[in-house]
Amino acid sequence: MEDKKWWKQAVIYQIYPRSFQDSNHDGIGDLKGIIRRLDYLSLLGVDAIWLSPVYRSPQDDNGYDISDYRDIDPMFGTIEDMEALIEEAGKRNIRIIMDLVLNHSSDEHSWFQEAKKSRENPYHDYYVWRDGTPQDTPNDMQSVFGGSAWEWVPEVGQYYFHQFSVKQPDLNWENEKVRRELYNIILWWMEKGLGGFRLDTADQIAKDPDLRVTNNGPRLHEFIQEMSRETFQKADLVTVGEAWGADIERAKIYSNPDGSEFSMVFQFEHMLLDQQEGKGKWDLAPLPFLRFKEVLNRWQTELFECGWNSLFWNNHDLPRIVSRWGDEGRYRIESAKMLATLLYGMQGTPYIYQGEELGMTNVEYDIEEYRDIETLHMYRERMEKGYTRQEIMHSIYAKSRDNARTPMQWNEEENAGFTEGMPWMKVNPNYTEINAKQQIKDEDSIYHYYRRLMALRQEYHVFSDDRFQLYLPEDENIFAYSRKNDIRTLLVICNFYGG
Ligand code: NOJ
Repeated sequence: MEDKKWWKQAVIYQIYPRSFQDSNHDGIGDLKGIIRRLDYLSLLGVDAIWLSPVYRSPQDDNGYDISDYRDIDPMFGTIEDMEALIEEAGKRNIRIIMDLVLNHSSDEHSWFQEAKKSRENPYHDYYVWRDGTPQDTPNDMQSVFGGSAWEWVPEVGQYYFHQFSVKQPDLNWENEKVRRELYNIILWWMEKGLGGFRLDTADQIAKDPDLRVTNNGPRLHEFIQEMSRETFQKADLVTVGEAWGADIERAKIYSNPDGSEFSMVFQFEHMLLDQQEGKGKWDLAPLPFLRFKEVLNRWQTELFECGWNSLFWNNHDLPRIVSRWGDEGRYRIESAKMLATLLYGMQGTPYIYQGEELGMTNVEYDIEEYRDIETLHMYRERMEKGYTRQEIMHSIYAKSRDNARTPMQWNEEENAGFTEGMPWMKVNPNYTEINAKQQIKDEDSIYHYYRRLMALRQEYHVFSDDRFQLYLPEDENIFAYSRKNDIRTLLVICNFYGG
C-alpha cells in the first residue's frame, strides 16, 4: 500500500547557474562553480538539484532559448563538466535534475535556421507557421514578453508563432518527427544518469494559435503521456511540469499516481493572489490572506492520495518570498523561518531556490542594472503607455524576475564571493549582512533552520504521508494546520500579524 517514491521524501534545491558560483572569473556562474559548492548543499541536506538551463544558447532569455540540446553553453562549461557534476553530486547522494525547454527552441537552433529557408525544407514543419501579409498578422495574439506573437519571415512569406520572445520560436508538437527528436534528446540525457527533469512551460506545448489556445491545448495530455511513456518511465526519475494554467482537476491528471504523466506540477494559484483581479503580475495588490489559506487548503486536501503537490515560494521567475510576504526589515529572520515552516509542513515535495535558505531579499536598482528580458520589455511598454517611472519601478521592485537572479551571497568579500570578475548582474548590497559563511557559523540562522526542517521531513513520514487539516479558516492573522497519523500529530501555527 505504501508508495515509496524517493521524491516524496525529497527536498529539491534549484540553482540558477549564472548566479550561483563563478569559477573562471568571467562574472557568470558555471558548472565547476556548482561542483565547488556541493558540500554546502550536502550539509544543507538536499536530495536533488534542479539546474535552470545550461544548454548551448544565445541567452536571449538566459538559457530558456536553446540552440543545441546536446551541448553545454561554453559560458557554463562543457559536457565533461556536466558529467563531473552528476558524478560528484552522486557521491553525496544528490541527484541532478535538468530543465527541459521543449515548447520552443532558439531561433539560432539549426532546425530553425533550416526551417526559415523555404516552405519545402524538411525542417520547415518543425515550427508553427501561418500565412499572412507583411502588414497583416494571422491574428492579434501577444507574446508573453510583449508585442505580437507572430514574426514575419520574408524568405518563406509566412509568420512563425512565438509565445515568448521573437528569438524563441514555438516548436510544432503536432509534427510527430519533432516529438521523436525531443524524446531522443531526453533519452540521450537520461543515459548520463540524471535524476529527473523539470519541463518548462509544459502546459503550453500543445498550443493551437488558430483557436487562440496557448495552455491546455486539445492534445496536451496525449503528448505528455506519449513523452512520459517513451522516456521518463524507463527510469526512476522525478519529473515536474511547469503549468501556470493548471487547476486541481488538471493537476490530478498530470500527477496521476499511476505515473502516466509527471511526478508533479508547479501550479501557481497561490502565487497569483497578490495582483489585481483580471490583470497581470505588475498590477500589485495586497495578499488576500483568507483566500491564500483557502487556496493552499484546497490543493492540500484535494490532491491527497490522487496526485502530488510541489511546495515552493520561490524560483528564478518570482520575487524573494521574505520581501514579498514576510518582513525584509526587522523580522527578516523570523519571517523567513515562519514561511519555511508553513510550506515545509505541508504535503508535497519542497523546493528551495538558491539563497532562500539565507533569507535573501529583493533589490531596488536603477533600471540600467536590470537584465531580465521581461522586465525590460514591460518598462519600455509602460513608459510608452504613459505610466510614470515611479509607478513602473514600484512594480519592478516588487515583482521583477531579477529579484531572484542577483548573485548568490556566499561571504562578505568583494562581490559576495560569487566572482572575482565583474558580476553579470549587480550583487545585492546587503551581502555583508546576509551571506552563507556567516549563517553557517550561527546555529540559529535561517540556513540551519532549513537544514533542521529538512532533516525532520526525512525522519518523520507524517510530512510526506498524512492528511492535512486547516484550522481557523476565518482568522485574519493565523495560518494553522495539522498533519496526523496514528502515532504522531504535527501542528503548524504561523502568525502573520503585521504582515
Ligand atoms: C518559464 C521559465 O521559468 C522562464 O524563465 C522562461 O522565460 C519561460 N518559461 C520561457 O521559456
